[in-house]
Amino acid sequence: MPTLKVAVLISGRGSNLQSLIDACAQPSFPAEIVTVLSNRPDAYGLERAKAAGIPAAAINHKNYESKAAFEAALQDAIVASGAEFICLAGFMRLLSADFVSRWSGRMINIHPSLLPAFKGLHTHRQTLDAGVKIAGCSVHFVVPEMDAGPIIIQAAVPVLQGDDEAALAERVLAEEHQIYPRALRWVAEGRVTLSGDRVEVKGAEAQQTSLRMPDRAV
Ligand code: GRF
Repeated sequence: MPTLKVAVLISGRGSNLQSLIDACAQPSFPAEIVTVLSNRPDAYGLERAKAAGIPAAAINHKNYESKAAFEAALQDAIVASGAEFICLAGFMRLLSADFVSRWSGRMINIHPSLLPAFKGLHTHRQTLDAGVKIAGCSVHFVVPEMDAGPIIIQAAVPVLQGDDEAALAERVLAEEHQIYPRALRWVAEGRVTLSGDRVEVKGAEAQQTSLRMPDRAV
């Protein structure tokens, strides 16, 4: 089976990018990262890409007079790389409906909450403030509305007494690194289909693991 050519868009640290790089390095993994693009030139994720020998570039949104011009540059770079699919991994610019519709069904994102709860920024603060006892993360298809879109996989973690944002973020992030490569694998294997707003994943293994709920003593 040919591998799916993927562009990863980042804005910062790039730990989720790293989890995708590591997954793609496995010989049997059905996807390859052909470019990493950051809207921030100082994003550490660019170093991770270079260390892995992946073409990487900054496309600084501040250098463009409009969102449309920025997105045109992004689109050109993605197309030039040969990418057929986009993974957003901590990419902090809201993409226009035009851009999103061009990549409809071919762009996914990871968000550190159990969507549709706690969209947007300061997710872990929102989670703690709400007093919920279960937190987690979601990989979903991107639609024009922020942090919406059909959900492919989620992982759940407990919120523990005494958690602050950093502690919760760390627990959730460990799960992000598990589910993002898994979602990309399913997509690349052609096992993911969209049925309206819902995602179906073919295969018994997927049925059992679209919710990842690690067994943690609370
Ligand atoms: C992650 O928590 C991701 O879910 C959110 O932004 C953060 C990015 O972290 N969208 P990293 O750059 O992947 O380390």
